[in-house]
Amino acid sequence: MDFPQRPTRVDIDLSALRHNLQQVRNFCSVGQGVMAVVKADAYGHGAVAISRVLEEEAVEQFAVASLEEGIELRDAGIKRPILVFGGCYPGQEAEFLHQSLVAAVFSLSDLQRLKQFGEENGTSIPIHLKCDTGMSRVGFLPDEIPCLIDLLKGAAGVEVVGLMSHLACADDTGSTVTRQQIKIFRKILQQLNAAGIHPPSIHLSNSAGLAAWDVPECTLVRSGIVLYGGYPSSEFESRLVLQPVMTFSTRIAQLRTLKAGQGISYGHTYTTQRPTRLATLPVGYADGYNRLLSNAGEVLIRGARAPVVGRVCMDWILVDVTDIDNAEVGDRVVLFGTDGEQSISAEEWGEKLDTINYEVFCRVGPRVPRYFV
Ligand SMILES: Cc1ncc(COP(=O)(O)O)c(C=O)c1O
Repeated sequence: MDFPQRPTRVDIDLSALRHNLQQVRNFCSVGQGVMAVVKADAYGHGAVAISRVLEEEAVEQFAVASLEEGIELRDAGIKRPILVFGGCYPGQEAEFLHQSLVAAVFSLSDLQRLKQFGEENGTSIPIHLKCDTGMSRVGFLPDEIPCLIDLLKGAAGVEVVGLMSHLACADDTGSTVTRQQIKIFRKILQQLNAAGIHPPSIHLSNSAGLAAWDVPECTLVRSGIVLYGGYPSSEFESRLVLQPVMTFSTRIAQLRTLKAGQGISYGHTYTTQRPTRLATLPVGYADGYNRLLSNAGEVLIRGARAPVVGRVCMDWILVDVTDIDNAEVGDRVVLFGTDGEQSISAEEWGEKLDTINYEVFCRVGPRVPRYFV
């Protein structure tokens, strides 16, 4: 584009990403590698740019949710192994092989299909077995393991290169559920080993699991949120020193002074109580500025907080800047991120929106350009 863009933008701090990766590595035991979870466009941060940096930093493997996300990384030249958590749907087998993508397999019927495809094509399809040790989402249940082993015995069409499960309550550092999941995972690993199946990649922990639970048999940790500088829960703020990678910002588009008693935005849900300097910002719910922040959000201008007043619109929000000295059209406005001494975190948004930082990051819309620093 040879014209300036609307000033609403996301800045991605790649040195913060490197710092956070180092934090992850500090928690890994000797010999444990990192599988960087870059699904959902690296939680909204831009999967290609993030993965390029992580590959430079010698991350061992990547994980995405779908074949399409894996292809995007291969097209961008990412060479390391890529695991597709969402598995291989019927008809995708050849593309998985062609792109050197590895599928997580979580049902006997999928396993049979891949095995048959491998045999018919004279090849062996690499797979990670995904076991359900208590998340109750996807995966082989413990009582399916003997059947799974029978299917794998002498199977030429597939090669088990990984074993994985997912923790449901890892962010609760005293969870008995996690203790039980680890026990079940270890038992499954022993059953596979006893049948002569020794997956080189073994992984169970997400970011919270890594920072709170030690499972020495694991050769990899699957880390997502902490790479982006997000805490899995407030319990982790004392365990990890993270740097937020994403800053969401815009600039003041218009400034007016309204008299007291003036209704603002759709539905006039806010009425000025005093002569009010009102700033209009070119960002709205279509950009990921959640409508639930109507009359509830705050932004940073000139290092100070200013409240969102009235309803969030599709492309605009309105902010009371009466108490900000000398606010001007064009001033930078931080929606979340740091400005001087003040910060608004994705966690703060999460609390206001009754959700988690993960969703806050993922919801910053695709029309907001990402700039990589
Ligand atoms: C299977 C699996 N492993 C790992 C992760 C990464 O989790 P986190 O971002 O908490 O590190 C996810 C994220 O949703 C996941 O679905």
